Amino acid sequence: MAGQRLWFALALGLLLLTAALLAWQWMRAPLDPAVVTGSVTATGVPQIGGAFELTDQNGRVRRDTDFRGRYMLVYFGYTYCPDVCPTTLLAMSRALELLAETAPESRGRVVPLFITIDPERDTVEAMAAYAPSFHPDLVALTGTAEQIGAAAKAYRVYYAKVEDESAADYLMDHSSYIFLMGPDGAYVTHFSHLDSAEKIAEALARRLSP
Ligand code: NI
Repeated sequence: MAGQRLWFALALGLLLLTAALLAWQWMRAPLDPAVVTGSVTATGVPQIGGAFELTDQNGRVRRDTDFRGRYMLVYFGYTYCPDVCPTTLLAMSRALELLAETAPESRGRVVPLFITIDPERDTVEAMAAYAPSFHPDLVALTGTAEQIGAAAKAYRVYYAKVEDESAADYLMDHSSYIFLMGPDGAYVTHFSHLDSAEKIAEALARRLSP
């Protein structure tokens, strides 16, 4: 009889201890910043970027692997864009000029890329005429509809033709982010078209400081 009671007391004690431990874990988990940050990092790292094979404004085939060892600033847009694309490309170009002034040793480690999402009109010739308005180093890339589709899909970039009967020229609806990709080709961060050249330059200088 005494042995049975002892076992019962031990089992009950173990049960209560387990319940207390579970309650404690449940209460402290959401308050622990390490746990919260950890779960965000684990699930929140965006799978952005990947392989592409396109043609630059000089008619040369360029692949993502050509840029390994350097950071890539990648922007998707189109030359007929009336406002957002030219504004963003100007900010990107100005950011590189600022970087050249404030951190000249870092400037050569960043390549600016402009990928069209309107290959129908953005031929190699159109890209060659457009790119020099922004930055001498800008690599302006076009390709077949399939090649552009694959590149945009890798970067999770949305684009669609806007049909407007009254307009002579069509517009393109598209997402507008500047992606910063690391020397290994992996996603580092991104900027929006609302970010200033100064903000982008500061972020680049921080990231590239030796
Ligand atoms: Ni645009």
